[in-house]
Amino acid sequence: MISIRSQAAVPAYGARVIKIPEAFARGTIDREGDSGARWVASLPGLVTELLEQWSCLPDGPIMHGEVGIVVPVRREEQAAVVKVSFPHPGNAWEPAAFEAWRGHGAVRLYERADERFAMLLERAGSQTLAGLPDDDEVVRITGLINRRLAVPAPPDLPRLRDRVAQWAESLLQDAADFTDALPKPAVDEAVATLRELGTDQPEVVIHGDLHARNILNAEREPWLVVDPKGLVGDPAYDGGTFLKTYGPTLLAKGNRDRDVFRCLDIFAEAAELDRERVRRWAHYRAVESALWRRRHRYVRSRGSAAPDRLTELADRLVQVFSSPQNTSLR
Ligand SMILES: Nc1ncnc2c1ncn2[C@@H]1O[C@H](COP(=O)(O)OP(=O)(O)O)[C@@H](O)[C@H]1O
Ligand SMILES: [Mg+2]
Repeated sequence: MISIRSQAAVPAYGARVIKIPEAFARGTIDREGDSGARWVASLPGLVTELLEQWSCLPDGPIMHGEVGIVVPVRREEQAAVVKVSFPHPGNAWEPAAFEAWRGHGAVRLYERADERFAMLLERAGSQTLAGLPDDDEVVRITGLINRRLAVPAPPDLPRLRDRVAQWAESLLQDAADFTDALPKPAVDEAVATLRELGTDQPEVVIHGDLHARNILNAEREPWLVVDPKGLVGDPAYDGGTFLKTYGPTLLAKGNRDRDVFRCLDIFAEAAELDRERVRRWAHYRAVESALWRRRHRYVRSRGSAAPDRLTELADRLVQVFSSPQNTSLR
């Protein structure tokens, strides 16, 4: 653990040492360079100030994901968490999504400090949906939650339809830079999905990073989501988000291609969505993921990365969707 004593002169809470998990500090500095290092160094002071501002006391070991630290706290008798994310524009919309959901299917938002990328949130349990042994049940529950999250959108959240042109451009650029990565028809089909589905968008909220580890057990409802990107548009898009991670998980466990399509069926039915739209978004997200993984490894290793296991699995998922042998399953 990296332990940095807060410089803030905060009598009630300042004496506590906020310990930033080392893996989180390293990951942030690797990814963000100097600005990441400065932000990590400022975090203990920042958390200490937020604890005082929101009258909270620390209540357990700090957790983290890739971009945020999550500090369990108590405010009087209430169990909550303070989440502070790296100040990147992509992390700016989380509070607005929680606000739109008002606790339905998602943890409640108690306080927000947008200029600090910080929130005080209801605390959920420590189990994630990914831990359920029954794959079909994981998919069904995610579909039901996806349906619940599709509430009328507030005006301020970003629209998916405003993003698709940029996504198509990035995909084509990645495909040009990593020429042999994927068959051309797969890339063409993904770009066609963006162009054909991307402009026709309903005005409902979507999570944007819906995967089983962002769904936590709870008491008020059996499962609640955390960590939304906050986007407005087609809920079928998040069927693709979910399958982008769950498809490779199934394949890594030795499941067959047909199980990926069964997963699609279960999701679309539970989410009350058009199966073909979910399939098309899932295909796009698989293509995008296979290319993104290459770019990511290439940048990280400064130009010499061979595909790793996750890239291979992302490629396999693209194949599952594209293979002529699976035409009857599509
Ligand atoms: N409201 C919450 N209640 C309980 N645990 C939480 C809550 N929010 C996040 N966590 C825990 O912290 C981890 C990281 O949080 P998350 O919001 O997913 O961060 P990131 O944006 O970095 O992925 C989660 O995987 C979960 O274990
Ligand atoms: Mg997360």
